[in-house]
Amino acid sequence: MIEMKDVYKTYPNGVIALNGISVRIKQGEFVYVVGPSGAGKSTFIKMMYREEKPTSGSIVINGVNLAKLKDSRVPLLRRHIGVVFQDFKLLPKLTVYENVAFALEVIEESPKVIKKKVMEVLDLVGLKNKARFYPNELSGGEQQRVSIARSIVNSPKIVIADEPTGNLDPENSWGIMELFEQINDRGTTIVMATHNREIVNTMKKRVIAIESGKIVRDEARGEYGYEA
Ligand SMILES: Nc1ncnc2c1ncn2[C@@H]1O[C@H](COP(=O)(O)OP(=O)(O)O)[C@@H](O)[C@H]1O
Ligand SMILES: [Mg+2]
Repeated sequence: MIEMKDVYKTYPNGVIALNGISVRIKQGEFVYVVGPSGAGKSTFIKMMYREEKPTSGSIVINGVNLAKLKDSRVPLLRRHIGVVFQDFKLLPKLTVYENVAFALEVIEESPKVIKKKVMEVLDLVGLKNKARFYPNELSGGEQQRVSIARSIVNSPKIVIADEPTGNLDPENSWGIMELFEQINDRGTTIVMATHNREIVNTMKKRVIAIESGKIVRDEARGEYGYEA
């Protein structure tokens, strides 16, 4: 489902962010990506939704090699991959409903289908009653729930998240993590970079540790493994 082979990434400034990454992630897995700051976690994640291209190597997702994918095909790829960021990236002038509907409007779904799907995912994330609110009227945890609703409204097979609880307090972080687990229970693959040691140690999921652009550990029911 996700297969990277000998992936190297050197940024234009000469920094080697990925230094020979090979990994396979099966459909339905829940994977934490851990490691020190600057290790290459975000770059690893960016490879999967073609935010960055590898310098060499292949990245095959659902049979498509992203290293060779034409730029014009990237929007199509993104419809099948949900992405969640640390800073939510909601559109401030749109309501909760509109932020989530946006992803469906660009693919020209009918208004009826859009309404049904948006209300379904808002219900799932517990925000049906705040559909008319604007992002600045919500707490951080609620904003992250909206961005998760947006990431899954197209029913993607994969959701990738880069430090989704990085801006949240522990209680909200747990809520967000439970939501990801629920989404994973429905069969969606989750790949998440995180610094949240307590959560990683409690959840007992697959853990891939990256250091200096290399995978240094890959355990089926792993632990965070770093101090602080
Ligand atoms: N766009 C970029 N241009 C140049 N260097 C970058 C860029 N993005 C990241 N880097 C560098 O690549 C390395 C890995 O960064 P990153 O993947 O963001 O690591 P992490 O997410 O683990 O903190 C770091 O040395 C970082 O400074
Ligand atoms: Mg990062």
